Amino acid sequence: MTVSFRPSLRTSNENRRARLPREARLLLLVAAALLTTTLAGAQDKPAAAPPTTANKPAENAGSEACQGCHEDIFNAFQKNPHHLVETDKKRGWETRACESCHGPGAKHAESASADDIRNPLKLKPAEADRACLTCHLNQSTHVGRIYSSHAKNQVSCVSCHSIHKNGPNGLVARKATEVNQLCARCHADVWASFQRPFKHRLPEGAMSCVDCHNPHGTLLSRSLQTARANEPGCGKCHGDKAGPFPFEHAPVRVEGCMACHEPHGSANPRMMTRHEIGFVCLECHSNLPAPTLPANGTLGTSPPAFHDLRTPRFQNCTLCHQKVHGSYVDRTLLK
Ligand code: HEC
Ligand code: HEC
Ligand code: HEC
Ligand code: HEC
Ligand code: HEC
Ligand code: HEC
Ligand code: HEC
Ligand code: HEC
Ligand code: HEC
Ligand code: HEC
Repeated sequence: MTVSFRPSLRTSNENRRARLPREARLLLLVAAALLTTTLAGAQDKPAAAPPTTANKPAENAGSEACQGCHEDIFNAFQKNPHHLVETDKKRGWETRACESCHGPGAKHAESASADDIRNPLKLKPAEADRACLTCHLNQSTHVGRIYSSHAKNQVSCVSCHSIHKNGPNGLVARKATEVNQLCARCHADVWASFQRPFKHRLPEGAMSCVDCHNPHGTLLSRSLQTARANEPGCGKCHGDKAGPFPFEHAPVRVEGCMACHEPHGSANPRMMTRHEIGFVCLECHSNLPAPTLPANGTLGTSPPAFHDLRTPRFQNCTLCHQKVHGSYVDRTLLK
């Protein structure tokens, strides 16, 4: 069992320590302070600031104490964005940044046992999240976290963020190729769609999943990115298709782009849901009232019912209805 922030989850050893009489705790503190100064002197390192440690609860060791045994991690940490926690007075973890995520470490620093220290990777997802969210709660990237399918499906912060690694797959994936690799690890089926002939250029590294999804969740379903505050994010890059138009084509706004396109990739040109554009349209428009029985192959309400679907000319709807996403001038989307 790893040690947790919450008192109820403390190990029995720790509870025993917490129950020691006041005098005994003071003695321990003095002994600890003496020990650190002697040790520090012997190793010719700056002391772990006795005044600060003496004022803190006995369980904290300070980051310097970790250095001796975790030299590599300690050194790499100097360049970690979290090093700010070590130096910034306002954040409340000055000189003991390691323990902001790993919990009180004095006991572990003595015993060197994995049982005495918290490793977020081994915590339950919700507990690991809580450890990170003590600091990251109020950032715009995380407002949707509570709705996200990741949170509900036990995918915690540390599934995607490796605190102590730099470079590719490090603390945070930034390059498109790194992000895609990260997401594809769990979403192999989605990644497979991007190998189809007509797709956004993710395999080429020109775009990534986070262009369309926010891994931390959003207020839209499927954690879709938003554009202009609350509209689906396709409009970020395809603003000309998203409108607003004086003459809208209802499904663009109501069902969204996915009424006609497969955003993850398609076997059909233009990433359409069907091979022939006419069939995409007829999925919704075949039931228009016809002047005679539909068997006559015509479409349309008013005479002349000139949409004669038996002729190739009328099968290619977008030949005439060019402004299928919406028009500035024409109700029937012809121009
Ligand atoms: C006396 C040497 C020593 C000191 C000082 C020390 N550690 Fe460790 N630490 C170890 C050893 C040895 C292990 C590996 C234990 C194992 O795998 O059983 C370890 C493992 C860990 C782990 C991984 C635990 C796990 O469950 O995988 C973390 C996290 C950790 N240390 C953090 C710290 C922090 C934070 C400090 C400073 C407060 C610190 N250590 C100080 C020796 C030390
Ligand atoms: C922002 C939170 C955070 C801070 C700050 C932090 N760690 Fe960690 N540490 C983690 C997480 C999460 C892991 C699990 C592995 C990973 O994600 O990289 C970890 C893993 C470890 C391990 C186990 C490594 C292994 O290979 O199993 C050690 C040891 C460790 N940390 C020591 C430290 C020391 C020493 C410091 C301070 C210099 C420190 N950590 C600061 C979050 C943190
Ligand atoms: C004690 C406060 C604190 C805790 C706990 C904490 N962080 Fe951070 N985190 C920071 C600060 C400070 C920064 C750097 C400044 C900033 O960007 O706000 C940061 C930056 C980051 C970044 C961005 C790095 C970059 O290059 O932009 C990531 C990702 C991150 N933290 C993930 C985590 C994860 C995952 C955890 C839990 C294992 C965690 N943090 C726990 C304070 C914290
Ligand atoms: C499914 C994977 C995933 C999960 C889970 C996840 N993140 Fe992220 N996070 C990312 C990716 C990818 C980025 C880079 C996004 C980008 O560049 O737009 C990122 C970016 C960040 C950043 C930097 C924000 C910025 O724009 O600079 C912080 C901080 C962060 N995450 C913290 C967290 C915290 C805290 C949690 C847990 C509550 C968490 N993340 C959960 C994948 C994830
Ligand atoms: C550790 C595994 C893991 C990683 C890494 C991961 N996911 Fe997920 N993701 C899941 C699980 C589990 C679910 C929920 C089950 C499902 O819908 O497949 C999910 C669901 C989703 C959903 C559906 C959301 C919804 O509300 O229905 C989206 C979108 C998503 N992930 C995007 C991403 C993106 C983008 C990345 C990379 C930044 C990523 N995932 C990385 C495991 C992961
Ligand atoms: C061009 C934008 C776009 C890109 C890029 C994109 N997605 Fe999506 N994704 C969507 C849309 C839109 C939906 C919603 C589909 C729906 O509701 O029918 C979706 C749905 C999902 C879902 C929900 C389940 C499903 O298959 O419908 C998952 C999981 C997912 N995406 C993961 C990913 C991953 C992982 C990547 C990167 C490899 C990625 N997406 C790249 C737009 C995108
Ligand atoms: C980050 C910008 C970006 C976002 C966000 C984006 N796209 Fe794209 N989209 C592109 C680019 C660039 C191309 C051209 C790709 C190429 O030719 O390689 C493209 C191409 C397309 C095409 C095919 C065009 C053709 O001529 O074959 C369709 C359809 C499409 N996008 C729909 C969508 C939908 C639907 C969404 C939202 C779910 C979306 N896009 C989100 C950038 C984006
Ligand atoms: C009612 C069906 C339908 C809807 C809904 C729809 N599209 Fe299209 N889209 C089409 C058709 C049909 C074409 C092919 C037009 C052509 O071949 O002339 C197309 C072509 C495209 C193209 C490539 C052609 C070009 O002019 O660049 C992009 C990009 C695109 N759509 C983006 C979107 C986006 C973004 C949305 C959502 C805002 C969307 N579409 C909603 C039917 C639709
Ligand atoms: C998801 C269903 C759906 C699909 C697919 C669809 N439409 Fe529509 N379309 C509608 C709806 C709903 C209206 C609004 C009807 C109304 O206002 O009476 C509409 C309106 C129209 C109008 C204007 C009619 C008018 O009187 O305002 C035209 C033209 C049109 N669609 C052509 C097309 C073409 C061409 C395609 C194929 C590229 C297509 N539609 C695909 C649902 C769809
Ligand atoms: C040769 C050009 C042409 C082709 C091809 C064509 N249309 Fe039309 N369509 C028109 C014209 C012109 C109108 C306007 C009629 C009017 O103003 O009354 C129209 C009107 C419509 C309307 C509105 C009908 C109403 O009564 O409001 C719909 C819906 C429609 N077309 C759907 C389609 C579909 C679906 C296809 C493909 C199967 C298609 N059109 C192919 C020229 C065409």
